[in-house]
Amino acid sequence: MKIAVYPGSFDPVTLGHLDIIRRASALFDKLIVVVMHNVSKYPMFTAEERMHFLRRTTSGLPNVEIDGYSGLLADYAAKQGACTIVKGLRAVSDFDYEFSMALANRKLNAQVDTAFLMTSAEYMYLSSSMVKDIALHGGKITDFVPEEIENEIYRRVRKDG
Ligand code: PNS
Repeated sequence: MKIAVYPGSFDPVTLGHLDIIRRASALFDKLIVVVMHNVSKYPMFTAEERMHFLRRTTSGLPNVEIDGYSGLLADYAAKQGACTIVKGLRAVSDFDYEFSMALANRKLNAQVDTAFLMTSAEYMYLSSSMVKDIALHGGKITDFVPEEIENEIYRRVRKDG
């Protein structure tokens, strides 16, 4: 069974992430989308909330599982018996960062390779930070996030504001 993990902050999941999840789920027997900690980011949503958003939006994909992990990605991939780490690439600007992470992960776990999927053109510019910024300033995020979670994001942002 070919298992892949798709790690990220997913703070929150966007249509760009969902596009990668759909396409990666067609390439592997099982895709585990795992909410992880990025040392250089301060998430707006808790890990539980981010996992909940992911569960709601991927419920139609039977071979996709949602999980959370606070340790190293290389260890998590080994624990799950995954052969591949899936990452999405939006633009050349993502490349340096993703390339060094892929090399470090391979050093930490030689059994796992990183496979990059190019984002679909319509999501090239899209990021979770952009979604949060627009929602915080009262803008519409309809075109950027799955509709199942749009209102939950507004509610949550208003509660904080
Ligand atoms: O969506 P992001 O924030 O770009 O995802 C980055 C993430 C969470 C995948 C990365 O920070 C990560 O792998 N964190 C887990 C800890 C880890 O393994 N760090 C070493 C990476 S080489």
